[in-house]
Amino acid sequence: MKRILVCYATRYGSTRGIATIIADELRDAGYEVTLSPASDAGDPAGYDAVIIGSPLYMGKWLADAREFVSRFRDSLRSRPVAVFSAGFTLREQTAGNLDAADGALASSVRPYLSPVSAGYFAGRLDPDHMTAADRAVIALAGTVPGDFRDPGEVKKWAGTLPSLLFR
Ligand SMILES: Cc1cc2nc3c(=O)[nH]c(=O)nc-3n(C[C@H](O)[C@H](O)[C@H](O)COP(=O)(O)O)c2cc1C
Repeated sequence: MKRILVCYATRYGSTRGIATIIADELRDAGYEVTLSPASDAGDPAGYDAVIIGSPLYMGKWLADAREFVSRFRDSLRSRPVAVFSAGFTLREQTAGNLDAADGALASSVRPYLSPVSAGYFAGRLDPDHMTAADRAVIALAGTVPGDFRDPGEVKKWAGTLPSLLFR
């Protein structure tokens, strides 16, 4: 049975929720899946494929996900990798918003590896459970709070992965 690592960074938990949906879909498809925070995952050399996800913060992936990619680039380069990003801008998947989200991959992922697929998902903004600093940033950006994650979209993307990872 092929082994897949699904790892993620998160500040407030919503990206873990997205990663969990992906892991469950891949398990249902017959793979042996390990779900782990990127900071605990270690060298992915023992896996047949790796999925890495992060929310966007100020246009970038979180440090845990960026560090996982750069630290384990040698192992990651020699196995298929798919990535996903979450963000409030991704509620509206306009060319401009997707371009901005791709900028996070351009700086932190693509210098090290070429993902077989990149997923872009709407995230969750819950000001009641944020630091005051984060609350101030999103208030300035004029964003609408809420949970905009769409499990159906995440499942759909996860369903495309087996044929892309193991072609
Ligand atoms: C301070 C702050 C900055 C953010 N910056 C971006 C951003 O640049 N682009 C974006 O699409 N979403 C941005 N978001 C939204 C988060 O990516 C979104 O809420 C995500 O679901 C949070 O994931 P987490 O719960 O796993 O930490 C930002 C949120 C906060 C609080």
